[in-house]
Amino acid sequence: MNLLITGGAGYVGSVVAEFAVAAGHDVTVIDNLQDGHRSAVPRQARVVVSDFGDAAVLDRVLSNRSVDAVIHLAAEANVSTSVTDPAKYFVCNVAKGLVLLEAMRRHNVPRLIFSSTAATYGEPLAVPIAEDHPLKPISAYGDSKLMFERCLGWYHRAYGLRSISLRYFNAAGATAERGEDRRDETHLIPLVLSAVQGNRPAIEVFGNDYQTPDGTCVRDYVHVADIARAHLSGLERIDQIGFDAFNVAGETGHSVLEVIEEAESVTGRPVDRVFRPRRLGDPAVLVASAARLREKLNWRPMQSSLECILGTAWEWRLRRPRGYAA
Ligand code: UFG
Repeated sequence: MNLLITGGAGYVGSVVAEFAVAAGHDVTVIDNLQDGHRSAVPRQARVVVSDFGDAAVLDRVLSNRSVDAVIHLAAEANVSTSVTDPAKYFVCNVAKGLVLLEAMRRHNVPRLIFSSTAATYGEPLAVPIAEDHPLKPISAYGDSKLMFERCLGWYHRAYGLRSISLRYFNAAGATAERGEDRRDETHLIPLVLSAVQGNRPAIEVFGNDYQTPDGTCVRDYVHVADIARAHLSGLERIDQIGFDAFNVAGETGHSVLEVIEEAESVTGRPVDRVFRPRRLGDPAVLVASAARLREKLNWRPMQSSLECILGTAWEWRLRRPRGYAA
């Protein structure tokens, strides 16, 4: 297929591009490099350095080749900033998303795989979370992603656009060539590995008084390569599916302390930790069921054990101690 991948220079997007190229797809990436890295894009892919919400650029890209499907990952994606500065989340994740959908309509692009999030559910009422769990986001980030999912429902009904929303839980891990390298890092696993490398004195643990076995938050980590495989499975079945949303998750919960202990075991080095107050907006437990993805898209997590996630993330760091700057 001819694929257009928005955000294909970012962490998840570049791995999706890697898997798409390896599967024989023809890939064009559009990325403004705000958070992404030019060198993260596989060399077989074409790169357009631009905002994905620029209608003139989209018209040029979509009229140059006949695109079979768009994989839309570009987004503003920081949960806590979205609460204090919601405007840019709605502008980027909803308004610019509609510019993309309208360009797809003008150029008869019939398929879209959308990078959605566990944050669409909000505070879980029950775990594991299945797709029919109520959708009550507690951040502007989660709400903006949910709004776009709803737009996709209407575009399917009215215009026949086929789309699959993939609600990622906690994306983590690395491939041999690609891993996490953000300008302002807030995620647990890369921060723990920075502490292992001595780039920060200790890992801060946000809250140890939650109603969980060890008092720290429990999350469902899913390997970025398994996430990429879900996109390819989606492309294979999207014409039969028409319109649907799927959780992408490892289906196992791990506490913050378990992650730190596994990092110590994988790296063979101790990690100092300091306990801090709870971080705003963190639910105690987020664990999903990915049964729908397994049943309808024939997806199987292959690398989402905590050991594999931390092992691959650590290997990537050893290979690229300065990330993409190296
Ligand atoms: N944590 C710490 N110390 C840190 C960083 C994180 O204790 O220095 C804790 C957090 O409080 C949380 C857990 O580690 O309990 C995981 O935090 P992350 O920041 O790694 O990930 P989140 O669960 O907050 O969010 C991620 C994505 C979101 C997505 C969400 C869905 O960043 O985009 O998963 O589950 F919506």
